[in-house]
Amino acid sequence: MNIANKSVLITGANRGIGRALINEALIRGARRVYGGVRGGLAIADPRVTPVTLDVTSAAQIARAAQEIESLDVLLTEQHLAVNLYGPLNVTRAFLPLLRRSHGAVVNNLSVVALAPVPVIPGYSISKAAALSMTQALRALLAGQSVSVHAVLLGPIDTDMNRGFDIPKAPPELAARGIFDGLERGEEDIFPDPMSQSIAESWRAGAAKALERQFAAFVPRSAAAA
Ligand SMILES: NC(=O)c1ccc[n+]([C@@H]2O[C@H](COP(=O)([O-])OP(=O)(O)OC[C@H]3O[C@@H](n4cnc5c(N)ncnc54)[C@H](OP(=O)(O)O)[C@@H]3O)[C@@H](O)[C@H]2O)c1
Repeated sequence: MNIANKSVLITGANRGIGRALINEALIRGARRVYGGVRGGLAIADPRVTPVTLDVTSAAQIARAAQEIESLDVLLTEQHLAVNLYGPLNVTRAFLPLLRRSHGAVVNNLSVVALAPVPVIPGYSISKAAALSMTQALRALLAGQSVSVHAVLLGPIDTDMNRGFDIPKAPPELAARGIFDGLERGEEDIFPDPMSQSIAESWRAGAAKALERQFAAFVPRSAAAA
């Protein structure tokens, strides 16, 4: 996957990692970048089109899917109350476009999907569930030429974790790491120094081996449906 000349939809695009991903997609020569936002989006570049998109609103998802004519990459940002059904429903709505373009879904998850941080159980549970969803969709959509990627982020310096006094990577670095991983075709992307420290052991580990084993159960006919 090469981002140049592609059409990309990024949800949660007004700030944090989503905003950095918009800038990075433009730097990489995306043809059109749709910024999914709940309020406004102040970016002057003519290639950026704001789209009203609260990922928990079925009506807004349906409207956005009608407004956007072609799509190669769908990038979803997820928060506690919106982590699972929001990205699932947005992915469902854009699947016809992604099938047509042989495109990609990129879900911004977290290393807490792999092990819960006990002081934030709800967030950790939602990220683990979203990882499971991402892995299942990856196997189910493989036969339709739509790739599904998990981004296992470490701590990034955004509004979300402003109160935590821990080392954090800049969102611009995370955005570069996410598109680098996508362009290299990595199914699980570790875009920052903290997450990179566990990448190798994750890829060689038992959970990954089981994921591949279980993916082989998907009948060819179901995967192509
Ligand atoms: N920062 C980190 O350390 C870190 C680590 C691991 C994973 N992540 C993940 O990375 C993603 C982005 O986080 P961030 O750090 O960039 O957070 P952020 O700076 O707090 O930004 C969150 C973004 O999500 C949007 N959003 C919230 N609820 C939404 C909804 N219902 N529909 C559509 N958009 C919604 C917000 O829009 P509004 O401005 O309208 O609220 C905002 O654009 C999240 O999935 C987060 O879990 C972050």
